[in-house]
Amino acid sequence: MAKPDIRIEITDVCHQFHLNDRFRLIIKDLAYCFNGPLGLYGLSGSGKTTLCKILAGIIKPQSGDFSLVKLNGTLAKPAVVYSPQFPEKIFLGVRVSDTLKQIMAQHPLGEEIKFRLIDYLHKFSLDYQKIENKSGFELSGGELRRFALALSLSLSPDLLIMDEPTIGMGPKGKQQLCSVIKDFQENYHVLIVSHDFNLIRKICRQFWILQHGSLIFSGDLEELNAQHAIKEQVGIHSFEKVYCFSDI
Ligand SMILES: Nc1ncnc2c1ncn2[C@@H]1O[C@H](COP(=O)(O)OP(=O)(O)O)[C@@H](O)[C@H]1O
Ligand SMILES: [Mg+2]
Repeated sequence: MAKPDIRIEITDVCHQFHLNDRFRLIIKDLAYCFNGPLGLYGLSGSGKTTLCKILAGIIKPQSGDFSLVKLNGTLAKPAVVYSPQFPEKIFLGVRVSDTLKQIMAQHPLGEEIKFRLIDYLHKFSLDYQKIENKSGFELSGGELRRFALALSLSLSPDLLIMDEPTIGMGPKGKQQLCSVIKDFQENYHVLIVSHDFNLIRKICRQFWILQHGSLIFSGDLEELNAQHAIKEQVGIHSFEKVYCFSDI
């Protein structure tokens, strides 16, 4: 079955953290329909994680309106999963098999999640049996990240947001992730967040760029290529024009 289109509409969204008056996320007006993998780029501290958490419903913005709808006739809210930048904050102290049991008990896919997880872990060269009895703090950083990514992929949401998915991954891990996303995005929407533009330009068809809490670009690579001032501001130097997944 074809994936339903997803539309995001944002009007005057503003968010500031308690006791932090140095940062404010402000998105004035954005109407966006997913059209291929979306890459969110910005320098560290530009607000990428904050925006993603708002989209995933984890943070409620202080003001403004935003909606995410499926354009399949129902305008239902899409299922959104946020794969965190810091999985260690979530999985520490809990055994992998217990985390999985808890999720399977609550999710409509039930036991199927375990089969998918085993399969995704395998694609990341990780054996489920090797980690099932370990708690989060017994996993290496790389194992933890691969487990978090494999689990979020296994949930098969309408929209999967992956926040800095390649942190701590070597070239082989990056290659494996790109190939997994290549298959996944055929059936589901993905938003990939990274401060590494070279990574997302290989995976994504559309790009958002954040700077100091403002969205300063939304468009494809060709449009971005023409925006010399923006590229300069965010430190993206000349990059080769590539087609999605062409060099993976
Ligand atoms: N819970 C929080 N409390 C206070 N400040 C925060 C909190 N989370 C993030 N910030 C600050 O908000 C800014 C944007 O953070 P973030 O969205 O994580 O940026 P990015 O993901 O682009 O690196 C940063 O200056 C960060 O220090
Ligand atoms: Mg971040």
